[in-house]
Amino acid sequence: MADIKKSQHGEWSSRFAFILAATGSAVGLGNIWKFPYITGENGGGAFVVVYLLCVLAIGIPIMIAETMLGRRGRQSPINTMSDLADEAGAHKNWHYIGWLGVIAGFLILAYYSVIAGWALSYVLKALTGSFSGGNPETMGALFKGLMDSPVQQVFWHSVFMAATMFIVARGVSGGLEKAVRFLMPTLFVLLILLVGYAMTTGYYMQGLEFLFKPDFSEIDGHAILTAMGHAFFTLSLGMGAIMVYGSYLPKHISIAKTSIIISCADTAVALLAGMAIFPIVFANGLEAGSGPGLIFQTLPIAFGNMTGGWLFGILFFILLSFAALSSSISLIEPAVAYLVENKNIARQKACIWAGLITWGLGVTVAFSFNIWSGFTIFGKGIFDLLDYLTANLMLPIGGFCIAIFAGWVMKPEDSKHELEMTNPQIYEAWKFLVSYVAPAAVFIVFLNVIGILG
Ligand code: PHE
Repeated sequence: MADIKKSQHGEWSSRFAFILAATGSAVGLGNIWKFPYITGENGGGAFVVVYLLCVLAIGIPIMIAETMLGRRGRQSPINTMSDLADEAGAHKNWHYIGWLGVIAGFLILAYYSVIAGWALSYVLKALTGSFSGGNPETMGALFKGLMDSPVQQVFWHSVFMAATMFIVARGVSGGLEKAVRFLMPTLFVLLILLVGYAMTTGYYMQGLEFLFKPDFSEIDGHAILTAMGHAFFTLSLGMGAIMVYGSYLPKHISIAKTSIIISCADTAVALLAGMAIFPIVFANGLEAGSGPGLIFQTLPIAFGNMTGGWLFGILFFILLSFAALSSSISLIEPAVAYLVENKNIARQKACIWAGLITWGLGVTVAFSFNIWSGFTIFGKGIFDLLDYLTANLMLPIGGFCIAIFAGWVMKPEDSKHELEMTNPQIYEAWKFLVSYVAPAAVFIVFLNVIGILG
């Protein structure tokens, strides 16, 4: 079946186009905003080691599995899973993986868009010279001003959501390819430049030590769960984003190779961000575990004090916004593809609906930083709750099910055929990782948190 089938939503023009789009999805706020602050909150090196192990043993095998399922099913994750379950003679209930992903996508995008809005608002701040001569006090106050303003946050969140829906309405395989092709490498160069600045702070080695010298007494079950959840989040796994991108992938492209390339690029960006940020944190006596504001309170200090910092600051926050945009479109694409396929409505209309729901939820996230900051559920504010629910629970559960499906439910001849691995040993290695290692690791981390083991 899969040989002749094509996605009704279009196809990537080449292998490179897919790599760009999937890297665009993977590289985003997760790498530059989230990775540094959760690393800071969880004590540094040991957390990073667990995260890297999770990328290797869980992330890459599941990325291969998710892309493969998408390419074979050629539809939205919900319909893909239901067809592939049919093909394997398994129960239709497998399509709930698709539903879980669609819901996770909405929940993530709701807060993702608010944070991306922060980045957008920092473009303006950079332009108007707000970082000039910045120190921890002035930059802290600048950030606090944004946090305390529901109006500003909702405004920028709205701008970002509108941009996302505009691109998704036009189809992800169109203009996006061109934009990402140019923006990703530029972002990479800018990060290297920031690392260069970090080297001049006198605290470079301390930053590196914090990031790479593991002290396992710093982590507990929750830190391990956060590291694992982040491996899913940063690689865009477990919710159908990579599956839906895989469904636009032409045949005869090596899924294993592309997955490895994407994962390496994603990891490199996160580590560079960490290497740029922590030296600045220590040089300025800032708190590594200060939370979601970390990059907004540290990097402006660098821009405000380096040569050419005005321009680099503007560029950086523009690029960060674009990196967020190329991720956000993949968060909503599974839902839009489903609406187009099953409700028979035009893409534009599907976008308006999906966009409005996400926007509304996002407004509550923006309020959770100010007027609703006292409102908590299970002891967490709305932002923290959504983040915990999606990254630490829904994505790993989604990924676990995808691994089980690819490893145990799908017929081996089908996965072998779809992956077209020329070396049988590589296929066996993947099969082993996806059938045993990845699901067992997710399971043990969950057990550990529940407290049965830990
Ligand atoms: N991977 C993206 C990031 O790191 C976020 C994302 C998660 C995108 C899940 C799609 C799906 O910013």
